[in-house]
Formats: sequence, C-alpha cells, structure tokens
Amino acid sequence: MTDPVYVTEALIAEDIDAYLDQHQHKTMLRFITCGSVDDGKSTLIGRLLYDSKMIFEDQLAALESDSKKVGTQGQEIDFALLVDGLAAEREQGITIDVAYRFFNTEKRKFIVADCPGHEQYTRNMITGASTADLAVILVDARKGVLVQTRRHSYLCHLIGIRNLVLAVNKMDLVDYSQEVFDQIVADYTAFASSIGIESFTALPISGFKGDNITALSANTPWYQGPTLVEHLETVEVNSARDAQRPFRLPVQWVNRPNLDFRGFSGLISTGSVKPGDQVRVLPSGKTSTVTRIVTMDGDLDEAVAGQSVTLCFADEVDCSRGDVIALADNPPEAADQFEATIVWLNDDPLHVGRAYWMKLGTQMVSVTVQQPKYAVNVNTMDHVAAKTLELNAIGVATITTDKPVVFEPYAANRTLGGFILIDKMTNSTVGAGMLNFSLRRAQNVHWQALDIGREAHAGLKNQKPAVLWFTGLSGSGKSTIANMVEKKLHRMNRHTFLLDGDNVRHGLNKDLGFTEADRIENIRRVGEVAKLMADAGLIVITAFISPFRADRDMVRKMLPEGEFIEVFIDTPLAVAEERDVKGLYKKARAGQLKNFTGIDSPYEVPESAEIRIDTTTMDVEEAADLIVNTLLGDG
Ligand code: ADX
Repeated sequence: MTDPVYVTEALIAEDIDAYLDQHQHKTMLRFITCGSVDDGKSTLIGRLLYDSKMIFEDQLAALESDSKKVGTQGQEIDFALLVDGLAAEREQGITIDVAYRFFNTEKRKFIVADCPGHEQYTRNMITGASTADLAVILVDARKGVLVQTRRHSYLCHLIGIRNLVLAVNKMDLVDYSQEVFDQIVADYTAFASSIGIESFTALPISGFKGDNITALSANTPWYQGPTLVEHLETVEVNSARDAQRPFRLPVQWVNRPNLDFRGFSGLISTGSVKPGDQVRVLPSGKTSTVTRIVTMDGDLDEAVAGQSVTLCFADEVDCSRGDVIALADNPPEAADQFEATIVWLNDDPLHVGRAYWMKLGTQMVSVTVQQPKYAVNVNTMDHVAAKTLELNAIGVATITTDKPVVFEPYAANRTLGGFILIDKMTNSTVGAGMLNFSLRRAQNVHWQALDIGREAHAGLKNQKPAVLWFTGLSGSGKSTIANMVEKKLHRMNRHTFLLDGDNVRHGLNKDLGFTEADRIENIRRVGEVAKLMADAGLIVITAFISPFRADRDMVRKMLPEGEFIEVFIDTPLAVAEERDVKGLYKKARAGQLKNFTGIDSPYEVPESAEIRIDTTTMDVEEAADLIVNTLLGDG
C-alpha cells in the first residue's frame, strides 16, 4: 500500500458499492474537471479529496501510515504524495480513458471524471461529460482564457452541462489580485455568451494552497464566496431537474414470469408516475392506466426519475423493448428524420449514406447519415465545410432512421435525445450524438398505395422477381458472365434487365467517382433502382464491384427475403491484374489512377454469398449455367 493510486483503485473496485449503499440518502453530483495538466487539475482534485476530508478514511489512513513509514510527517507532504499519485495515474491512463474518482462530504456524494484535455482526446472528454451535472473549467490565473478553455467549455456546453464553474486557479502566483481575476472573468463572459452559455460561477482559488476550496480565504477578502465545496454541495443536480419534467420510461424488457403477471421494466428517465395515471405507449400510441408500480423492495405509491421500476397496466396493451411509456396527455414525438450533432469517435471516418445501428435509450434502429451541413472547429467554434467526419470531429448532419424513433431533443432529455452509432460489421461504437429536432420532410411524403402491386406485375410475366447481385474485382469477369446469364434467361422467355457499373456510371451515376462515399452512393442508387425493377416483376442482374459488405447487405435488406442473390465472382487479384482487360491495373500501379479497388482501395470478400464462381476453374458458359440453374432451380 505504498502508492495512493493503488488505494484509489482498490476502493473503487471493491468498496464503492458498499460505500454508495451506505450513503444512499445523499444526492449524488457527477462532475468533470477540464483543463490541461499545467492548469493544476491533479492538484485541485488532490486538494478536494484531501483538504475537505472527502477522501475515504481508509485511503487517508493508508497514506498517513505510508508517509510515516518513509519518515515524512505533516499534511503538506501527504497532500503532495496524493497529488503525485493522481498525476502519475492520469498520465498512465491518458490515452485510454477517463479516470473516475469517488468521494463524499456530509451533504453529498461525488463522482469526478478526470479526462485528458488535448484535442485528440475529444472523445474521452465527451465520454466523461456525458453523464456530468457540472464541469469545473480550470484556468491558470497567469495565463487566462486559452484555446483549451474555450474548447472544453464548448464541449461541456454541447453535451448539455448547464452548471459551469470557472475556477481561476493559482491565485497565489498572481498575489491574489482581484484585477487579474476580474479580467479573466470578463474575457470568459464574452466568450461564453458567444456560444450560448447563459451562466457560470467564477471562483478565485489555489488548489495548491487551498484558498476558497473548503473555507473562504483571507487572501481574497474581495471575494465573498461560495467556496468551491459549498458550491458543489448545493448546486442543483440533473436528477432533481429531471424529476420535474414530463414522465418518460424507456422500456428495457417485458417482465412476464407467469401468466398472471405482466409488467414493463425500465429506468424512469424523467418525471414521476403513480398508480391510476393514464399512460400512453409509444410509438403505437395505445393508452392504459397504471395499476401497480413494482420494485424489488415492494410496490410504490409513486416513482420518480432515476428509479428502476416495473409498471403494470389495467389493459393488455402491446408494449416491448424499445417502446417508451409516457403520460397519456403529454407524450414525446416519434419521427424518422432528424437534425443531429455528431461526435465521431472512430479512426475510420463517417461513411455518408452507409447504414449504421443507432442506439437511443433502449431503441435500436438502422440509420443513414447525410453529408454534414458543417463541422465545427473545436478551437475557434467556426463552422467549416465537411464531406465526412474524421476521428474527434464534431458536425451537424441529417440522420434518417428506417422506422420511427420516439425521441425528445437532447437539451430536454439526454436519454431520449442522446444516441450512439454502431458499426454493423464490427459492432464497435463509432459515433455519439444528440438529436436537435425532427425534420418534418419525411412525415409529409406519404407512401401512395397503388392497385397494381408487385405480384400483379410478376404474375403477368409469369416469373418470380429476383436480383442477381454480382460482386467482384474490376476485371474479374462480372460483366461478361452477367451478360451470358441474361442471354440464357432471355432465350428462356424470362423478362430481365442488366444494370452494369460502367454503363450506369455514364448516366444515372455520372456525378459519382470512386471515393468510399461515392461508391456507397453508387450502390445505394443501384439498389433502389434494382428494387423498383424487381417490383416491376423483372429478374434484375447487376454487375458492380460493390466492394463494401455493409452496402451489399443494405441492398439485401431492401428486398423481400430470398429475392437478393449475391453472386461472388471470385477472381484473385493477381489473375484480374494479369488479364487487365481495360489496362486500368497498369495505370493504377503507375499511380495514374487513384482509389483503384484491390490496389489502394479495399475489396471486402462476401462471407455468405448465395453463389460463388471460381473463374480460375470455370469458364463463362459453365458459370452462367450454374447461376441460371441456381436461380430457377427453386423457381
Ligand atoms: S463500385 O465500386 O462503385 O461498385 P463500379 O462497378 O460502379 O464500382 O465501377 C467499376 C468500374 O469503373 C471498373 O470496372 C472500371 O472499369 C472503372 N473504374 C474506374 N476507376 C476505378 C477505380 N478507381 N476503382 C475501380 N474501378 C474503376
């Protein structure tokens, strides 16, 4: 137990649950500290932990016995030891994540998220800030408001933190000058109002000396308080505000242990509910009355934001995971198109038009993101044009979901307005975002029901529609084999249409090139056209490289089950390059053709294509026969 870092971690790992249980009657404030290392972040946290005795008793005891062992005495030494430990821990963890520290005072429990401050760690800051009630923005009194101060303030404001503390630190190094303090506050006020921060609390402090941390300092007679700790102990926490908002419960699961009991479980995100309340289940809009509020500790007369409960209804209404239960006369909206602010968290940039999973509360839907309207330069807050979003970038874009999502703007409800984006292939979180508002466009364009449907079209042609989706490298033989397949089908009186990459790129898609974004859009459009043609009853054959799995899967999902038949023309790169029918590989190797598939742009091999053609062992005729037989075999 020589190292305070060890003590902190041991307590978090082992004692935190017991500790939190003990203190359940207290409100909890989650806050984040921002500022670069030089601003004295570790010293301030150490001071908060130590000086106000907010540190765990065990932790303190361990520190004291350690310092005795190494022959040191007195509080200042222990304090220095603690700060060194925190700083070392921060540095070790800097690239990984956010360090959370837990402590308490007589009045409150606290969780402080200590995040790295450099621009490349924007995502870590967003993680730390996303659950915070308050942010302490540290400024070095000698340096004033810096680029980092602005960036951190902007991110905290963006993520919805409404309690900002401007802690002007190291006041001891500027002789506790009121003038210096006032100037920094004036500078910050001008900046804050320019980005819509309505209010903040400014304090002159010294983390090192302890001024205005737990007691008002005699060194700053011109400052009347509160102290930092007083402020942290009394500021309104989000949960108090959430309780005042309209009732919303995102359903996590349906609780049905036996036929006599059926309840809907989840964490109340805002508001309160009582038995007898009229509620509405969204998006279906069905209403009922709450009969019971069941918890592990028995039934409740009322439940509020922050509690996990199971609600029972008077009627048998359909309700499942992802639905939202709300007050009947004050429900949230459902929509399928939004303006959103997105923070990109992944090395692989945002792919405009590609389908991602969006997780919003307990809802999971498929979404596509349009080209950003703009990105934000996080150092100047300027809006800049952007085609995509790279790691740590923040931008505003339109998001379209594949079905209606129950939501509230993030500013009103973090649970129903905050989301993450998940890559469908890797399952990793690639972005986080906030819904700003819904766009009515989608709601005003209604689907027109037509009398002659797809069955009628196909019936007249006496065939089953299908899309034979060829994929493979350039020069793999897609067009040649597709052409032969069409000829064979035609001879058999089948109604077909062949969409070929090179041809479509002369017309419908002549505005598209070969960047990832353009290829995704190429496939999306071809997918939509193929779907229309299949609706018209045709057997559609497409021959596009379609290098990305996600996009081929997107087209697969557009069509009825079984109608999308993926045909992988499997020709090794070396063979395609050797043939080089159009001389393009030679150009690509010579650097005259950028983003060439297989050379400097990837090709993702299909994992479960319905048909695989090995062109090194099969000729065109054989390949076409295999495809036609597979298609018609069950038709
Ligand atoms: S896809 O990747 O978007 O599916 P598509 O099949 O439409 O590609 O077009 C591929 C054809 O465009 C190739 O057969 C080739 O003739 C031509 N082409 C021109 N530039 C490139 C490139 N950089 N990468 C691949 N193909 C290219």
